[in-house]
Amino acid sequence: MTKTVYYTATSLDGFIADQDNSLGWLFQVGAGDDTGEGSDGLGGFKAFFANVGAFAMGATTYEWIAENQDKAAWEIWYGDTPCWVFTHRRKLTPIAGANVTIVQGDVRPVHEAMVAAANGKNIWLVGGGELVGAFADQGLLDEIVASVTPVTLGGGAPLLPRRLLSSRLRLTDVERAGQFVHLTYGVGRAA
Ligand SMILES: NC(=O)c1ccc[n+]([C@@H]2O[C@H](COP(=O)([O-])OP(=O)(O)OC[C@H]3O[C@@H](n4cnc5c(N)ncnc54)[C@H](OP(=O)(O)O)[C@@H]3O)[C@@H](O)[C@H]2O)c1
Repeated sequence: MTKTVYYTATSLDGFIADQDNSLGWLFQVGAGDDTGEGSDGLGGFKAFFANVGAFAMGATTYEWIAENQDKAAWEIWYGDTPCWVFTHRRKLTPIAGANVTIVQGDVRPVHEAMVAAANGKNIWLVGGGELVGAFADQGLLDEIVASVTPVTLGGGAPLLPRRLLSSRLRLTDVERAGQFVHLTYGVGRAA
């Protein structure tokens, strides 16, 4: 059955990007691997993405990828897996080979389309936090996988700007990958 999963790297103090929307702090982390999966913890991402059939992100995240990643990176990482990008903008920077649908507004019909496209695989919510919060508000978020990075940022884009208390979050897995800790939480429905 399709699960909707927010899988993201986060600083120790709960930010997914710094105040300049940069991820430079994330890519500096590497040393100390003892898991055999690669010092950046990306082996875990590959295993995660192998079971992803559709993914979604906000315009800031998309534009960050368009501006900062190698041109071939999208195809290497995501192949032709369909991606929905939320934006009010008329045009986004094109990314070669990216199978992207531009959408805006209510996340519910988009989620329905993503479930159909995923064909039994999972849905990955890439971020940012406010967009993922919109899915959570509609009871459409099943799991959070937070890859905690040994960095504090003091400010930036918050992981998930919502109040989800322990009655709704259940720790289901903890895994160390070098300097990262992957924390997996099941998300329950609001009472
Ligand atoms: N650490 C990680 O692994 C990780 C993961 C994901 C993202 N990030 C980073 O975190 C930052 C996230 O920043 P953010 O929270 O500002 O980003 P975001 O969700 O990527 O982008 C926010 C923008 O998306 C558009 N948007 C969101 N919901 C919408 C809706 N329902 N309808 C239409 N448009 C909608 C709006 O753009 P417009 O109104 O301008 O169109 C909004 O300003 C980025 O710098 C990203 O690179 C980090």
